[in-house]
Amino acid sequence: MLAIIGGTGLDQLGNLKITHRQVIRTPFGEPSGALTFGTINQHEVMFLARHGYGHTIPPHEVNYRANLWALYEQGAKRVIAVASVGGIRADLTPGEIVIPDQILDYTYGRPFTFFDGRERPVIHIDFTLPYSPMLRKHILTAAEKANVKCIDGGVYATTQGPRLETKAEINRLERDGADMVGMTGMPEAALAKELGLSYAAIAVVVNYAAGRGDSRDGIHLDSISKIAEPAMAKVRNILGLVVESDEK
Ligand code: HPA
Repeated sequence: MLAIIGGTGLDQLGNLKITHRQVIRTPFGEPSGALTFGTINQHEVMFLARHGYGHTIPPHEVNYRANLWALYEQGAKRVIAVASVGGIRADLTPGEIVIPDQILDYTYGRPFTFFDGRERPVIHIDFTLPYSPMLRKHILTAAEKANVKCIDGGVYATTQGPRLETKAEINRLERDGADMVGMTGMPEAALAKELGLSYAAIAVVVNYAAGRGDSRDGIHLDSISKIAEPAMAKVRNILGLVVESDEK
């Protein structure tokens, strides 16, 4: 089944016909909220709002392990994460939608693995390609069919938040190879990989990163929702067609 993790600006899916909601408990604690089960164009999907349904959980307090575990345990095979980002690369301007293909991790203090404890042999996962190439392709194909422009590829830098970055931090991220910056990409992507889930992200650029474009002297937080709303409508159109792609 396809699971969708909605981020800022996407805490529900208008095109989802809800069948039921289920509170799940996991060995890692509680997910951000009840899982919402339903169908999009007759295909079964489950949905989870990463920051909770009232948007009250900040990025560093999201229980990523519980979220991924709950989706996995309920039968998810593919997970599409929707996330808002700031644009660093020149063509990643507000309103653009990007399907990242690489990730950088600047987070700290977040429980980031299922493989801790001493009772099992050490396990290392291959993380060369953090996002599933197949699922990325399905998203890009769906976007094309939905007539939504989507940028293919980019490096997503995950910062700790909840504060935004300084201009110098963005310059450093750019030197590191980052194209966009968000706060939730990790450890989510790695945890999905540990569970063997096919994981990809749809990143919506909602602002220029600090020091870039009209964020040269500060990020205009009030304009973010104006950018996010129409872009999230496009994301819903993409999701409406991704469900048609091959189920794994
Ligand atoms: N920085 C970090 N996370 C973000 C941003 C940003 O500029 N915009 C949306 N999420």
